[in-house]
Amino acid sequence: MNTILLDKLNGISTSRPPIWLMRQAGRVLPEYRKVRASAKDFKSFVKNPDLASEVTVQPVDILGVDAAIVFSDILVIPEAMGLDYEMIEAKGPSFPKVIESIGDIQSLVCERDIIQERLDYVYQAITQSKTKLNDRVPLIGFAGAPWTIMAYMIEGQGSKTFSKAKKWLYKDSKAAHLLLQKITDATIHYLEGQIAAGAQIIQLFDSWAGVLDARMYREFCIPYLEQIERTLTVPSIIFAKDAWFALEDLATTSFDAVGLDWGISAEYAHSKLGSSKVTQGNADPCFLYADEKYIQDRTREMLREFGTNHIANLGHGLYPDTPLDGVKAYIAAVKAYQYEV
Ligand code: CP3
Repeated sequence: MNTILLDKLNGISTSRPPIWLMRQAGRVLPEYRKVRASAKDFKSFVKNPDLASEVTVQPVDILGVDAAIVFSDILVIPEAMGLDYEMIEAKGPSFPKVIESIGDIQSLVCERDIIQERLDYVYQAITQSKTKLNDRVPLIGFAGAPWTIMAYMIEGQGSKTFSKAKKWLYKDSKAAHLLLQKITDATIHYLEGQIAAGAQIIQLFDSWAGVLDARMYREFCIPYLEQIERTLTVPSIIFAKDAWFALEDLATTSFDAVGLDWGISAEYAHSKLGSSKVTQGNADPCFLYADEKYIQDRTREMLREFGTNHIANLGHGLYPDTPLDGVKAYIAAVKAYQYEV
């Protein structure tokens, strides 16, 4: 078994950095697009454990990454809590009904048995992925961070400002805390099930962290992230996109690794996180448009800057039009890299 990612998270020394890529199971792979086309729509794809496990394993077989991440979406949690979503082709998620009142928050479901029953298809996808992986690499499970899920539940879609969701934080912080706590509870139950099904690492995605500031992040995000982390029995990674202002607070949490977007330099990350946290990231997905020589040189430079306590990844997920040759060149450059002794 290739344990290089688990070793890095567990503080065991490795000869090179591990690598996996956010959105590695996705449209960048022709093999993914083929399986995707066989499903009626995105949601029936996610809910089909045969198909979901097939695309989970594809990047391991085709790209040789050091981990698989279960094919699912962060929006399965709002759905399990009672807020349905649609995935609109070439546009993104859309919620027919959103949270508008305290009554809407009160009617959300977060009981353990219901959440775990409604998300059983994810657990089946994990179990089947594990069988297909046959211990070649570890399997990463994931969930959205409470703030990012709250943002979708209120906005009903992506947004430039997330001002509707932020309004709750400023105008009715009590209701916001109630909502964040319910999402936290549901997420804890959900992840317990993922780990029981075989997930060996958990990553939380706080994709919309960057619309907050340090003070708001400290009040509305850190305590819920930490609550979730404390229940996890496997190594954990927090990816809070564009949250350069929150690194010192993230350093105080129990997460084993902190994912970084491309705006953060290694020097800045080290100054805020200290040396004990493993970092993950943080190449701009657009750097994969460059030619092979550029990718090799930039990869070596990035890995030198981040040092031995680092997991190679991107600063956000792969774009659908990322050239496969660029992806392969990045992975090859990381795998060829050896730490200086
Ligand atoms: O390979 C992997 O990383 C695992 C699969 C995965 C998906 N979504 C599949 C997916 C993961 C980890 C996610 C997380 C996710 N989903 C996030 C957090 C990461 C981030 O990007 O910030 C967010 C914000 C979402 C919500 C979401 N899902 C959006 C905004 C979209 C539309 C944008 C897009 O890329 O099309 C999705 C759809 C989605 N989720 C796709 C995939 C592969 C594309 C749809 C398709 O293939 O038809």
